[in-house]
Amino acid sequence: MKTTITNPTSIFINGQLTGSKVIHQVKSLIELNGIFEDQIAFQNMDGSQPAYEVDVWFPVQTGTEGGLFFGLTHLYPGRVGDEYFMTKGHLHAKENRAEYYWGVEGEGILLLMDKKRNTWAEYMFPGSLHYIPGFIAHRVVNTGSFILKFGACWPSDSGYNYDILINEGFSKRVKHIDNKPLLI
Ligand code: F6R
Ligand code: ZN
Repeated sequence: MKTTITNPTSIFINGQLTGSKVIHQVKSLIELNGIFEDQIAFQNMDGSQPAYEVDVWFPVQTGTEGGLFFGLTHLYPGRVGDEYFMTKGHLHAKENRAEYYWGVEGEGILLLMDKKRNTWAEYMFPGSLHYIPGFIAHRVVNTGSFILKFGACWPSDSGYNYDILINEGFSKRVKHIDNKPLLI
């Protein structure tokens, strides 16, 4: 029988996720081409700047049924025209796979859209907890002046479907109007 007590392989503290199986990914603004309404404002921005960074702990191989992944997204503040920086957004490739998001730092809005293109939204703040059911597209918008960090936990066989949003995107946008975020 094993009697040794080991350290955990990953640590999530002070808004950082570290560990031997944690992969760091950077999404630069140019990779979000097409998601913002104001194309001219987008073209006038520095596309090489990072829009968000994601740390993901992959304890099992991608595609494994029954496993879970754990991520921390760092979404920078900023605006393209009157729209806030946001994640690209996706539906899971295995559409029935659900996910948890939760607010860690900063403030923002989680956009959710069903297959009939009904879109709704929830405020995100440190401690907010969000259950994203299967078949629901999800995107996060940073409405604050500081970095927005949120955690995520999802099945290791969910995959990503970004293509479904390429043409029409979400049916609503979060815009900075009269100095506050509005869902329109
Ligand atoms: C995983 C998940 C998150 C996002 C991350 C970046 O299912 O929802 O880890 O992948 O917040 O957002 P996207 O993938 O939309 O660029
Ligand atoms: Zn997801």
